[in-house]
Amino acid sequence: MRYVVVEVLLLILVVLLELTNASAPCVSYEWVVSYSERSILGSNKQVIVINGMFPGPILTATADDVVNVNIFNHLNEPFLMTWNGLRMRKNSWQDGVQGTNCPILPGKNWTYSFQIKDQIGSYFYFPSLLLQKAAGGYGAIRVYSPELVPVPFPRPDDEYDILIGDWFRSNHRDLRASLDNGLSLATPDGILFNGLGPEEAFFAFQPGKTYRLRISNVGLKSTLNFRIQDHDMLLVETEGTYVQKRTYSSLDIHVGQSYSVLVTAKTDQVGSCRSYYIFASTRFSNSYRTGIAYIRYPNSPLLPVGPIPQGPESWDFASSVRQTLSIREDLNVGASRPNPQGSYHYGRVNVSRTLIFQNDVMQSANKLRYAINGVSFVFPDTPLKLIDHFRLKNSFVPDTFQTYPSNRPSSLGTSVVDVLYRDFVHIVFENPLNELQSWHIDGHNFFVVGLGYGGWSESKRSGYNLVDAVSRSTVQVFPYSWVAILVAMDNQGMWNMRSQKAEQWYLGQELYFRVKGEGEEDPSNIPARDESPIPENVIRCGRLLQ
Ligand SMILES: *[C@@H]1O[C@H](CO)[C@@H](O)[C@H](O)[C@H]1NC(C)=O
Ligand SMILES: *[C@@H]1O[C@H](CO)[C@@H](O)[C@H](O)[C@H]1NC(C)=O
Repeated sequence: MRYVVVEVLLLILVVLLELTNASAPCVSYEWVVSYSERSILGSNKQVIVINGMFPGPILTATADDVVNVNIFNHLNEPFLMTWNGLRMRKNSWQDGVQGTNCPILPGKNWTYSFQIKDQIGSYFYFPSLLLQKAAGGYGAIRVYSPELVPVPFPRPDDEYDILIGDWFRSNHRDLRASLDNGLSLATPDGILFNGLGPEEAFFAFQPGKTYRLRISNVGLKSTLNFRIQDHDMLLVETEGTYVQKRTYSSLDIHVGQSYSVLVTAKTDQVGSCRSYYIFASTRFSNSYRTGIAYIRYPNSPLLPVGPIPQGPESWDFASSVRQTLSIREDLNVGASRPNPQGSYHYGRVNVSRTLIFQNDVMQSANKLRYAINGVSFVFPDTPLKLIDHFRLKNSFVPDTFQTYPSNRPSSLGTSVVDVLYRDFVHIVFENPLNELQSWHIDGHNFFVVGLGYGGWSESKRSGYNLVDAVSRSTVQVFPYSWVAILVAMDNQGMWNMRSQKAEQWYLGQELYFRVKGEGEEDPSNIPARDESPIPENVIRCGRLLQ
């Protein structure tokens, strides 16, 4: 009897959920992607604009919205947009990377369609192919909380999206050609704020008001230190996770990371009659580059006075490590749900697998390549997701890739790691190089539970933060260091794990996770039944055209 009642209740719940889904509001965008000449850092460059804008329009949605973005490719190259940090619930068809989608060809259009499930926060989108990010094409994403879900801070009076990133004067095709010819990316020519060079961007403040700044590092390689003259920043959000509120005078933002800070404008007569510098300057680099923007009050002079805000010493890793460790999840608040943690404590879940990924640099046919565990990724002739779906003969063999550092000679390969739906995976990123690394996993957030200098060993587990580690989608690994993350593989599909640094990614530092549904342990039993069906408008390419 009781079971019947439970079943009826479950059925009602399911019907209710379906109803809420059916009535999910829809936001639709039409974006024309094209080239435009812009003078940036004193030189003309062909830039990728969206509807004539660089950066592109802000994609604004509320959690649970269905988003349609119809993208018209007016470039002379194939194009894909990817949504950095949006989890695309069970819908890797929409992820916009080369392993899941065929590109939108020049002159064609394609409509991305996805629901933003259980997710709020600050993210950005960018072109994922052919180093096009070096020409722009990026923009900010804001996902708001549903009306009924409390936000753990007073509603800010206004919000600004601030996209910072390094910039090269060279055309993206020339940069690509130099990578293809075995040369590294040079030193960037400067740092942009929302597509503008030094001293061109400004943000208007009104006395006494509070602003939410949503800041993302959209650049190719440089860690940036972000700071505002005479204004502290209260950190509130990290890639969709509300964090314990702490005040920072400067914030290190690594390539691909996003943060929200609250900044309160001056109220006093003197303070609110001045302008202020905003700086974003490179860290851990021999050649210092800096981007400058301004805050202006209604009656302030155009230019700031006084000493420029000092950042940390460029090579001071210790301060950056301390800052990283200070960013913790706020356990008292939900994100997109009223009670996200509830009875879920990541620290008490048993780890089902440990994977160790070591980044490395290698030579292949005298060309520079970057690798994970000795394998530098090469694409098969058809996207992996489509190979699976149409049961094409595998040109990749899962599990030949070693999920621990390998002493085998480096090679080219198509690395796919099979994991089971709901596997709780412990991943260690080891960085044996004297260069900072930045890792991202599509479709998932992960808990950053530990980091340290040198190599990782089992004994390091005792020092993990199993209580309030931050959950995010991009994490940096300092030189000669390791980082440990825990990730609940709760999103079926084919998901990209990549270096967020454009050069490393372009030259092979990535792999794919294939998250298999329950009862689908047999890798040939595809597609997973709980995934979104293949889109009706799916683009075909490679072997599917034969
Ligand atoms: C291309 O755009 C047209 C016009 O907006 C639209 O009807 C069509 O569905 C789009 N095609 C794809 C594949 O999304
Ligand atoms: C974790 O594993 C231990 C030992 O195998 C077991 O006793 C415990 O019930 C497991 N915990 C969970 C939450 O599954």
